[in-house]
Amino acid sequence: MESKLEFSIKQGAPDKQRCACVVVGVFEGGKLSSAAKILDTTSKHILSDLIARGDMSGKIASTLMLHNVPNTACERVLLVGLGKLNDLDTNNSNNSASLKILRATFAALNATPAKDALLYLVDEGIGKDAAWVITQAVLTASEQAFRADRLKSKPSKAAILKRITFATLTAPSAALKITLDQAAAIAHGMALTKTLGNLPGNVCTPTYLAAQARALAKAHKTIKTTVLEEKEMQKLGMGSLLSVARGSEEPAKLITLEYQGTDKKQKPIVLVGKGITFDTGGISLKPGADMDEMKYDMCGAASVLGTIQAIAEMGLKLNVVGVIPSCDNMPSGSATKPGDIVTSMAGLTIEVLNTDAEGRLILCDALTYSKKFNPDTVIDIATLTGACVIALGHVASGLFSNEDKLAKDLLTAGEQAHDRAWQLPLWDDYQPLLDSNFADMQNIGGRAGGTITAACFLSRFTKDYRWAHLDIAGTAWKSGKEKGATGRPVPLLTQYLINRASNKQTGISK
Ligand code: BES
Ligand code: MN
Ligand code: ZN
Repeated sequence: MESKLEFSIKQGAPDKQRCACVVVGVFEGGKLSSAAKILDTTSKHILSDLIARGDMSGKIASTLMLHNVPNTACERVLLVGLGKLNDLDTNNSNNSASLKILRATFAALNATPAKDALLYLVDEGIGKDAAWVITQAVLTASEQAFRADRLKSKPSKAAILKRITFATLTAPSAALKITLDQAAAIAHGMALTKTLGNLPGNVCTPTYLAAQARALAKAHKTIKTTVLEEKEMQKLGMGSLLSVARGSEEPAKLITLEYQGTDKKQKPIVLVGKGITFDTGGISLKPGADMDEMKYDMCGAASVLGTIQAIAEMGLKLNVVGVIPSCDNMPSGSATKPGDIVTSMAGLTIEVLNTDAEGRLILCDALTYSKKFNPDTVIDIATLTGACVIALGHVASGLFSNEDKLAKDLLTAGEQAHDRAWQLPLWDDYQPLLDSNFADMQNIGGRAGGTITAACFLSRFTKDYRWAHLDIAGTAWKSGKEKGATGRPVPLLTQYLINRASNKQTGISK
């Protein structure tokens, strides 16, 4: 996995610090940030001279690395262009000015042999607020330090930058220090999610995911892991889940992680993650092109593991349960065939018209199983439909809920964490598309509104509790040259849980 970065925050003037590289901002037009001004004075105007000569314009996300700046104890000074003050948009887009600045800053740092850096960026008002800047800086630094080299015979060159200190001229608040620790925990959770997502189907099997869940329980006293085998699932009547697993040699697992961060009596929030470790489509076989990407069909499961690791690391004061139904979707002589009718744990029968609509078949049993935890709220996370990629692209995750307050809380958390979702309707009007002539329902609703009918299918199994569904088919990984898991929606989920723990958004019980 990625080598862990260390983050800290402290108060102090830049001329007094010893470090491999100090980072200060310059605004467009050459106006120095407060920290840059101090270095300019102590260095006898090195900065203002080079600005006057035109070496640094302050253009957004431009960088200039300086060496041997007189009267500092830092080996290097990195100037970063902050653009125009009023350009520092507070919007959440991926091309927002502050994210560009942060990416350029860490790219410049990572191009040097500096092991530690001191960043004066928090005071400058880049981004929505200090907490936002700190969080995004931690996530950007971690993203750039991440290596997907587990299965290379020689590991890739590790990032040299190890220690990152955020420096402020005025004393940072206690809340900002907590934000920093929480951001680091989110980054670690995302790294776990990415690593698992990137592992191929022949390594990351249901058994492997179960071992990962057990390893989390070993590392954190607050986590208890249990794994149900196919026999036990059979006893519980999980005919829908098991119908997907039938075609594979790999045994299915139902993995449960119980994180107890507060009084046992407090109802848990249950996170249910789709854990298809490879989706061939089954007998309704997928086309060959890019089928390798269906190793990512367990990214919902990986995001549950990453989120639970993050909140355990934070010691968040609430109870959370992770439920992960996991199996392969393979064609074989024993595989489920189109037209087969299976009986779910809820007792509802399902006509499997397309074996490639398997996510909902494993989720419905996991959602029914989740009732046993007497949940406050259940959120499932799934790479569920290609249609969601068509609807929302790779920017927002699809969001559905049977309670508007929960949908709003999740949308807000996504905005806060820069890991956004967009709500789609769960109107009854779509439900008849799932009518079957032979069973209680069929598992597909046709091409029109494919993301919505998938959510409608799940909604039939979530009537007894407050529930939301996140379709992460477009957001969990990137394709093409940049192919790799993104770690989403760990930031959204973790932020939602942080908000719930701090009671900023108390749930209304149904
Ligand atoms: N895992 C896929 C969804 C998917 C496809 C995610 C492509 C990301 C990219 C899911 O199991 C699936 O195959 N869904 C089908 C449903 C259809 C048969 C109703 C789909 O989206 O094509
Ligand atoms: Mn499928
Ligand atoms: Zn799938």
